Amino acid sequence: MAATFEMHHVQQPGRSVSIVHRPADTEEALRLLAENPSRRPLAGGTDLLLDLQRGGPGAAVELVDLTAIRGFDTFAEADGVLRMGGGVTHNQLISYPGAITKVTPLAQACLEIGSPQLRNRATIAGNLATASPANDTLSALIALDASVQISRWSGSAIETRAVSVENFFTGFRATVLSDGELITRIDVPMLQADQRGLWVKLGNRRAQAISVIHAAFVLTGDGNAVTRARMSFGSVAATVSLAHGAAEALVGSPLGEDSIAVAADAVAAQFDPLDDVRATAAYRKQLLGTLVKRSLTALRDDQHLDGWPTAPPTLSFASISAADAASVIEDDEEISVTVNETVVSGGSAAQLTLLDWLRDKATVDGTKEGCAEGECGACTVQLNGQAVMSCLVSAAQADGGTVVTVEGLATESGLHPIQQAFIDEFAVQCGFCIPGFLVAGASLLEEIDAPSDSDITLGLSGNLCRCTGYYPMVTAVKIASGQEVDR
Ligand SMILES: Cc1cc2nc3c(=O)[nH]c(=O)nc-3n(C[C@H](O)[C@H](O)[C@H](O)COP(=O)(O)OP(=O)(O)OC[C@H]3O[C@@H](n4cnc5c(N)ncnc54)[C@H](O)[C@@H]3O)c2cc1C
Ligand code: FES
Ligand code: FES
Repeated sequence: MAATFEMHHVQQPGRSVSIVHRPADTEEALRLLAENPSRRPLAGGTDLLLDLQRGGPGAAVELVDLTAIRGFDTFAEADGVLRMGGGVTHNQLISYPGAITKVTPLAQACLEIGSPQLRNRATIAGNLATASPANDTLSALIALDASVQISRWSGSAIETRAVSVENFFTGFRATVLSDGELITRIDVPMLQADQRGLWVKLGNRRAQAISVIHAAFVLTGDGNAVTRARMSFGSVAATVSLAHGAAEALVGSPLGEDSIAVAADAVAAQFDPLDDVRATAAYRKQLLGTLVKRSLTALRDDQHLDGWPTAPPTLSFASISAADAASVIEDDEEISVTVNETVVSGGSAAQLTLLDWLRDKATVDGTKEGCAEGECGACTVQLNGQAVMSCLVSAAQADGGTVVTVEGLATESGLHPIQQAFIDEFAVQCGFCIPGFLVAGASLLEEIDAPSDSDITLGLSGNLCRCTGYYPMVTAVKIASGQEVDR
C-alpha cells in the first residue's frame, strides 16, 4: 500500500491574492470594503502578508491597499490631542517633532518595534488591528488614554464611531472591528505639564524581538503627590490590561520606596502570566514586580527619557511619490517600477512580494531572500526613498514607484563609498547578507551625514550576518561617511 505524506505547514502554499485595490481616498476604501466584506485591508503588510503565506491554501483573497490613500498618514494637534491618520507608520511617529515628550510611551514603543526597515512600512493601526497582546504600542496607547475612530460605509455616507483603546480588544487577537470597518484615526491625549510617562519592554534580544513583557506608565501629579496613575501590561495575559488596583495604591502620596514597593507587589499579584516559548509564567511573574519598581523609580528620578537618541535613524531619507499607479491590479497583471533608474514592467504583481517580483519578473537578483519573513534584512531595498524589507511588501504596492537595489548603488565613476569601505575593511565573508547591509547602510548615509556608532548600530539593527561579525561593518559605514575611526 502506498504511503501517504502530509506536507509540513511551511511547505504548503499560502493563500493567493487575486486583486489588489488601490483606492485614492478613504471613502473609496470604505466603499470597496462594504461592497465585499471578505476583502482585507492591507497597510504595511508586515502582519497580513505573513498571515496569508502561513495560513495554508484557501480561496484567493482581495486586498484593499491603504497605503495608496492620500493623506491617510498625516498628523494634527487639537485641544491637547495628537490626531494621527490610520496610515501613520511607527517611523513617522518616531520622527514627529516632539513625539518623545508629547506622547512619551508611544514614541518609546514605536522605536522598539522590529527594525528600521519594518517601521518604515508597519502602521500603528495595523498593530492595533492585529491585537496580539505582545503588540508593543497597545500598552502605550492604553496608558495614554488613547481612542480610535472607526469608520464604515453605510451605503450612502461614512459612519464613524469612537472607541477607547482600552475597550477596543474583546479577547486574544480579537477586537470590536467588524468586516468593512477601518481605523481611520487614532487620537492620543498629549502629556500635560503635570504628567510624565514611560514605556518599557523586555525581549530576548535588542531588535526584532517579540516582547516577553511590555508595560506603560503615565503618572499625573505636582511632585507632592500622585493624583492619577495608569499602568498597563502586555504579553502577560490574553489582552493588554490596566492594573487598576496597583495604580490606585500610588494615588495620594509622593512616589517613594514604600509606595513603589506596594505597587510592584500589587501588579505581580494581579496577573497570572502566560507560559510560552519566550518565558515561563514564573519568570514573567517575578519580572513584573522588578519592572514596575525600576520604571516607577525612573519616573521619580526624572530618568524616563534616558536612552532616547537625539534623532533616531529611520532609514527614510526622501519622500518620492509613486507616478501613474493603477487603482486595481488583478491577478497576473503587469506593474511598472523604476528599478535602478530604468523602468521595468513585469506581471503577477498581485500575487508576489516585491522581493519575488524583483528577482523573478524584473530579473534584478542582487537582492537576497534569507528568511522571507522580515527577520534578516537580506532583502532590503529602497522603495520611494525608504529602506524596506522587500519580502514584506506586496509588489502591487510598488506600482509606479522607485526602487534602488544593491545593483543601483554603484555609479559610472565607481563603487558607492560603502561598497568600497566594506571591501577595504574585510566586512564580507560569504556575502549573502551583504546586499541588505549595503542598502541599509547607504540609506543611513543618505539620512545622516556623519552617523555615530549608536546611529549605525540602530540603523543596521534589522540586518543579520551569520559569518563576518558586526564590528568591521560598523567601521566600514563610519569610513564611508568620511569620519575618522580609532584603530
Ligand atoms: C520581523 C517582524 C518583527 C516584528 N516586530 C514587532 C515588534 O517588535 N513589536 C510589535 O508590536 N510588532 C511587531 N511585528 C508585527 C507587525 O510589524 C506590527 O503589528 C505592525 O504594526 C502591523 O502593521 P501593518 O501596517 O504592517 O499591518 P498589516 O499587516 O497591513 O495589517 C495587519 C492587520 O490589520 C488590519 N489593518 C491594517 N490597517 C488597518 C486599519 N487602518 N483599519 C483596520 N484594520 C487594519 C489588516 O487587515 C490586518 O488584518 C513584527 C513583525 C515582523 C514580521
Ligand atoms: S527580511 Fe526579507 S528575506 Fe529576510
Ligand atoms: S557575510 Fe556571510 S552572512 Fe554575512
